[in-house]
Amino acid sequence: MSLRDIVKDKDPILRTKCRRVEVFDARLHKIIDDMKETLFHARGAGLAAPQIGIARRIALIHADGVYLEFVNPVIVSSSGSQIGQEACLSVDNRSCIVERPNKVTVDYYDRNGNACTYDAMGFVARACCHEIDHLDGILFYDKEYTNVYRRVIR
Ligand code: CO
Repeated sequence: MSLRDIVKDKDPILRTKCRRVEVFDARLHKIIDDMKETLFHARGAGLAAPQIGIARRIALIHADGVYLEFVNPVIVSSSGSQIGQEACLSVDNRSCIVERPNKVTVDYYDRNGNACTYDAMGFVARACCHEIDHLDGILFYDKEYTNVYRRVIR
């Protein structure tokens, strides 16, 4: 495993729609292992492949004692609502309030290409939403709750 640099905010890869993983090989395992080391070192709640400069649909979650490796994740259902603070390893000195579902079901593949499903709640659900958004070039502050609120009351 090796530590990778985390790309920052202005890097265009963070605005890229990432491609699906098609081959579950040693190269994929190496990327996931590097992402894991980088995530744990940075003490984040999650890390998406574009954050280390790889435009592929891979995201890791490490939140509330849960560690997950998602390949080609899709949120297939969501329910409820939670409003809370978010930040991002790629965005320095900024956090904001984001509304997310309180529960999500994620269909994904593990690193060996096995189809899996995970039901996430609360903070883990929030982390899943944040990381999966990264795979579509969406950053948390795009969804800042106060902006939406101001737009509604104006
Ligand atoms: Co992030």
